[in-house]
Amino acid sequence: MPDYTQGHTSEVMAAHQIRSTSDSCGYFTPLLTSRPAAHILDVGCGPGSITADLATHVPEGQVIGVDFAEEAIQKASSQPSLPANCTFQVANVDDRLPFPDNSFDVIHAHQVLVHLSNPVHALAEMRRVCRPGGFVASRDGDWDTFTIFPESPSLKQYRDIHGTIVRSSGADPNAGRRLRYWAVQAGFSDDRITYSASPVLFTGPEKVRYWSTVQAERYTKGTFKEQVLSKGLATEEDVAAFGPAWLEWGKQPGAVYHISCGEVVCWKD
Ligand SMILES: C[S@@+](CC[C@H](N)C(=O)[O-])C[C@H]1O[C@@H](n2cnc3c(N)ncnc32)[C@H](O)[C@@H]1O
Repeated sequence: MPDYTQGHTSEVMAAHQIRSTSDSCGYFTPLLTSRPAAHILDVGCGPGSITADLATHVPEGQVIGVDFAEEAIQKASSQPSLPANCTFQVANVDDRLPFPDNSFDVIHAHQVLVHLSNPVHALAEMRRVCRPGGFVASRDGDWDTFTIFPESPSLKQYRDIHGTIVRSSGADPNAGRRLRYWAVQAGFSDDRITYSASPVLFTGPEKVRYWSTVQAERYTKGTFKEQVLSKGLATEEDVAAFGPAWLEWGKQPGAVYHISCGEVVCWKD
């Protein structure tokens, strides 16, 4: 399996599993209202909470979630109350997707291109399996917009290290701003793309406390820790300090966590 800098530990999947179409797909779900029978492919579906939610938007359609990680597909397939029109399978968008040309009405990828060293190939592959008249939708974060308040030296160090790790895998942590450019390179017409932006935002005592515990778990162990140490980006003590720093942030009144995400809807003629 190619590099995926986040890894698939239970902490990482827990952070992804809370996502839904209402917090991550608002830029294109209104387009599904008139397409209840649409066939949707969700690329890099991870634990599949968005995929399952997408299936409820197309009750007469079908949704397939694909991910190159077996662990993710197992987790996604074992979700409770999975809609009957939602299935999952292993596939790698860095290769050729296992579907014929023009197979789906909508191809979606959430926070996936930001992890790929060849996002243009992935978009071209998503375009290939998209039917004429359909669209490819992608949303990705822009790491340079990462804002945390109050900031601490430890969280500042975490921010820098995270960007370095993504870059060292050959991916671009500022994918959000490049989505439209990449889509044009992948064969879409610039005048058939809409670009928008929205935040990943945690603020308010309850949300901040919750997110601080998720982040404290996620960024003190597993793949992140292994990469920090193997690349010599920080010491074991530095990594151990990220946990308490996140928890401390989570107790601060007025705390804010914010990352801007770029979003594209690319129509195939
Ligand atoms: C940040 S997670 C996003 C998961 C899900 N889309 C969400 O937003 O909850 C990125 C996912 O992309 C998957 N991924 C990374 N590279 C991939 C590739 N080349 N082909 C298929 N999936 C890939 C990872 O395994 C991971 O599950």
